[in-house]
Amino acid sequence: MKDFSIHKSSDSLDVESKAMLDKAKEMIPHAYAPYSHFRVSAVVMLEDGTLVTGTNQENAAYPSGICAERLAVFTANHQYPNKKIKKIVIIAQRTGETELAPAASCGGCRQVLLEAENRQGKAFEIIMHTHHNEWVVAPSAASLLPFGFTKQNLH
Ligand code: THU
Repeated sequence: MKDFSIHKSSDSLDVESKAMLDKAKEMIPHAYAPYSHFRVSAVVMLEDGTLVTGTNQENAAYPSGICAERLAVFTANHQYPNKKIKKIVIIAQRTGETELAPAASCGGCRQVLLEAENRQGKAFEIIMHTHHNEWVVAPSAASLLPFGFTKQNLH
């Protein structure tokens, strides 16, 4: 299996990922995070280069909200059910701040990423801005959720 790679700056990400990062930054204002003040933006790239975006959408009844990456992946699956996901970039920013905050997909989202990966039968990269201003490129959803619960468990 491929390893994780760590980049000290977004400058060393590949051209595609940098374009996705620009799009993710552009979409941050679309987050609706009046409760956590933590805005998350995710951009999915499909195999043909199409970009699908998502931001976190919160709700006064807290569990009724949805995370950015889950919205992006579900939207991609909904709008383009026959196109595979190639990679996803996830960033976060606290409301009122200009610097990016560390983003890490929550466990529930990793579960959704894993299902999307298994469904399409092909691994996709997950690129996250994490602590110390570093960028982690994970080679697959499975690498972020070892021993994950999948369809196989149900049969
Ligand atoms: N959030 C995401 O959008 N993605 C994650 O993987 C982590 C958490 C959102 C949910 C909530 O709106 C806010 O960030 C604070 O938890």
